[in-house]
Amino acid sequence: MSKHPETKAIRIQTARTEQKEHSTPLFLTSSFTYDSAEEMAAAFADDSLEVNMYSRFSNPTVDEFINKMAALEETEDGVATATGMAAIFSTFMTFLSKGDHIISASAIFGSTHTILTKYLPKWGIEHSYFNLNQPESIAALIKPNTKMLYLETPSNPGLDIIDIEFVSALCKKHNILFVVDNCFATPAVQQPIKYGADLVLHSATKFIDGQGRMLGGVVVGKKELINPLYLFVRNTGPSLSPFNAWVLSKSLETLFIRMDKHADNALKIAKGLQDNPKINWVKYPFLENHPQYKIARKQMTNGGGIVTFEIKGGIESSRQFLNALQIISMTSNLGDSRSIASHPASTTHSKLTEEERNAVGITAGLIRISVGLEHAEDILNDILQALEK
Ligand SMILES: Cc1ncc(COP(=O)(O)O)c(C=O)c1O
Repeated sequence: MSKHPETKAIRIQTARTEQKEHSTPLFLTSSFTYDSAEEMAAAFADDSLEVNMYSRFSNPTVDEFINKMAALEETEDGVATATGMAAIFSTFMTFLSKGDHIISASAIFGSTHTILTKYLPKWGIEHSYFNLNQPESIAALIKPNTKMLYLETPSNPGLDIIDIEFVSALCKKHNILFVVDNCFATPAVQQPIKYGADLVLHSATKFIDGQGRMLGGVVVGKKELINPLYLFVRNTGPSLSPFNAWVLSKSLETLFIRMDKHADNALKIAKGLQDNPKINWVKYPFLENHPQYKIARKQMTNGGGIVTFEIKGGIESSRQFLNALQIISMTSNLGDSRSIASHPASTTHSKLTEEERNAVGITAGLIRISVGLEHAEDILNDILQALEK
């Protein structure tokens, strides 16, 4: 296999069947058969046998998707899940026990915040939040029972960025498992394991599918970490459907060219909005005025596909803006070929209190644009005309 990830994303494929198909086959089956009663008994007796038994445990199409993701993140193995949240929850459940402590960035996806604050305490797992913009504050939060450090970079929707290498050095020193949600960047733009992360996870629902068709999740890392996670998913059941895995694996074939175009368009939109009098500011990782621009340039190959800005006039102006859009869709997803505008304060992050939202920069006027693959001029013009209105 080539050393180039672009080629791996296209050429890693389930072994060709006797039908000699060119495109990858889809193994849409719940279970697998055996040639003898002895073979069947052996498969069930030994968990470590690499034999397909039941698609909650493993499936060749799901394995293809996992193998591609592990290769793109430059690591050994992975587990695929039905959603990004299942990937996150399964990771917490596998590696955290009663009495443990997790340190998390405060700027995280709304449902992840709900798991940390509402569900983990039910099992006696406590958390501390740190500000992604203050990495030097992490050390003081470490306790003898700290088992995991969790963050997103760039964060959703604040686009805050942290130096992955700095955090990983701290985690290694204190023997803390370092988990990165790499959903906003994708491995085409950033590979956290290269900078020392232990596990990388994704909502594959976003740029990995890239066309807003389905839900999926994946966690990748060293085999010794993936094995207990695999057993958790195999036994508790948030497994990825083979059909979704097939679509996601086909999507990975175009991930690199899509991410280049998303980023190219996003940079044009961000630059086109920079001096607009209707907004207070625009934020994009590869704009030189981004507070962590240097770190973004170090660990990302481009700025990704998300641009945020703050409209003057708060909630009322935000609503008027969204209602005036003509091309850009109003929906809460991101990472689609179609550009999407959303208002995080009243949607994805509405479960946070106003104080919590303000602390992570989700103000009433914040608009998040997931920049799609349409012509950049059409996207920018739609934003500009809606701002005028
Ligand atoms: C950064 C991030 N992580 C996780 C998730 C959850 O993923 P899913 O909706 O696939 O469960 C999302 C969804 O928006 C997200 O943006």
